Amino acid sequence: MSSQKTMVGKVNADVLSFTVGKDAVLDRELVDADCIGTAAHVTMLQRLSVKPSLFSIKERDDVIAELVEIMRRGRKGQFKILASDQDVHLAVERTLTKKLGDVGKRIHTARSRNDQVAVDLRLYAKEELLGLLLDSVELSSVLLSFAKKHKMWPMVGRTHLQPAMPSTVGLWASAHAESLLDDISCLESAYQLNDRCPLGSAAGYGVPLAIDRELTSKLLNFAEPIHNVLYASNARGKCESVIVASLSQVMLSLSRLSEDMILYSMPEFAYFKLPAELCTGSSIMPQKKNPDVLELVRAKVARVLADSTAITGILKGLPGGYNRDLQEIKEPFMESMQTTRASVKIMIDMVKSLKADKKALHAAFTPEVFAADRALELVAEGASFRDSYNQVRDDLESLQVDDLGAAMLKRTHLGAGAGLDIDFLMKRSKEVGVKVKRTRVRYYAAISKLLGTKYSDLSI
Ligand code: ARG
Repeated sequence: MSSQKTMVGKVNADVLSFTVGKDAVLDRELVDADCIGTAAHVTMLQRLSVKPSLFSIKERDDVIAELVEIMRRGRKGQFKILASDQDVHLAVERTLTKKLGDVGKRIHTARSRNDQVAVDLRLYAKEELLGLLLDSVELSSVLLSFAKKHKMWPMVGRTHLQPAMPSTVGLWASAHAESLLDDISCLESAYQLNDRCPLGSAAGYGVPLAIDRELTSKLLNFAEPIHNVLYASNARGKCESVIVASLSQVMLSLSRLSEDMILYSMPEFAYFKLPAELCTGSSIMPQKKNPDVLELVRAKVARVLADSTAITGILKGLPGGYNRDLQEIKEPFMESMQTTRASVKIMIDMVKSLKADKKALHAAFTPEVFAADRALELVAEGASFRDSYNQVRDDLESLQVDDLGAAMLKRTHLGAGAGLDIDFLMKRSKEVGVKVKRTRVRYYAAISKLLGTKYSDLSI
């Protein structure tokens, strides 16, 4: 049986390839996070008052300079993770040791790959969630602008997809926006849960050395360390699961929005027109302009839901302490994050260039849309609602299309067509945007300080 040498002993070649799985590829996404986590760890070790000291200031600076170099190469796709490394953690240690000799060999003092990968995934999630939050805020704001622009444009309100009551484009678009604002709250609460540092939990049981977990947490700009080291280990997967649940909510909102846009841009409805440049054609039918983007978003919702199920499925029945099963969560976690981010981004473009057609919107109003309005008119004349309802139902033929403008203006109560407070929703959206931007500035400042170089400019 052939075996392969790794930094942590000889491993059967087939076992190595099976256990590494996709990590050598997926971990490329964690190069930044692994280097940042390592920078915090080495800074903490350098400040420990143990004799002999673990790292001098110069040695710490050398390690950090090398970590920054690895990040630069990683961003250019030039940092290699070999199968014999198994993962990004040992690839970074190998590189540090090659460059710095003995100093590199000391980097793994008082840590385990278990707490390394846990902190890496939290740093990855921090960065991605901040980006996703900002994009989701933009999508909500684009929807609200569309709502504002077409605030009182009449649109048939539907239940069961059947014509139901008079409504407006403003109501339609801002309903989607408010849904996203709720999803944004879910993302924010997932962000908060993620914002706790597992570093220093080592293999899940701490280390026989007075390491400073508060310090590493602070250096990485986490709100606080996870208190219990065993829980810090067990929280891996749980944290991803909560995040992906919040992503699922975003995707479910996009699913409904995509489906509405597909439906209402069908020629049979024609309420909306999708911009030609955001549609795709057919290889045989020259006239075609298909809403492929929206269809793919609709399909990708299922993938994110499946990722969520995969993650909770892996977690269910796991005993406490690290188990290799957790590695298998990485792929659905990253996939759902990237899928959600790409979907929100493309939906911003779709909504930005969406056009409404007033004539088609008006033409859709058939007399029965006013049935409930008519019954309520009879109520205003003194009849009970049920008698009025029966009277209208017995004489549906006599219903007529009402004055659309007047019908809209009658709906003045909170949140109805003429009672919509779009500015209120816009304010909420803007507030989150400002808050997230501030959080990101603070995060980047902390990481830049840790690395001694401007973090956000590294790729230039
Ligand atoms: N790639 C591994 C993972 O994602 C890193 C941790 C390995 N730890 C271990 N005890 N084998 O879980």
